[in-house]
Amino acid sequence: MTESAIEMVVAVIRPDKLADVKQKLANTGAPSLTVTQVSGRGSQPAKTEQWRGEEYTVDLHQKVKVECVVADVPAEDVVDAIAEAAHTGEKGDGKIFVLPVSSATQVRTGKTGPDAV
Ligand SMILES: Nc1ncnc2c1ncn2[C@@H]1O[C@H](COP(=O)(O)OP(=O)(O)OP(=O)(O)O)[C@@H](O)[C@H]1O
Ligand SMILES: [Mg+2]
Repeated sequence: MTESAIEMVVAVIRPDKLADVKQKLANTGAPSLTVTQVSGRGSQPAKTEQWRGEEYTVDLHQKVKVECVVADVPAEDVVDAIAEAAHTGEKGDGKIFVLPVSSATQVRTGKTGPDAV
């Protein structure tokens, strides 16, 4: 058997979906993750809103970025889990990317490769 590939799933999701996504990932066998508060925009153009009579433009939205590196669990399963848990059906539900990872090292043990993940 060839060594399993290491991949990173990067998802940008609604902040209020983080709890569901974490739970679903744990159930999928991929509990390890890094979470970052981010702002971003997708394909919608900037929206003009009013506050105290002043117009202002909203072009960046608060999102949460979830990074999940896997070796034994297929990245596809992680993508499916996140997509299911993060879904509302409204615009702005988020996006999921999969990237190859060339190396992984567990600091405590010095293990490298899939065993380190
Ligand atoms: N192509 C992209 N590159 C980098 N980040 C992206 C990209 N598309 C989306 N994002 C990030 O994902 C967040 C959510 O995107 P969003 O769900 O609005 O995508 P969308 O393509 O506009 O889909 P929808 O029409 O459902 O809103 C964005 O705020 C941004 O942070
Ligand atoms: Mg959008």
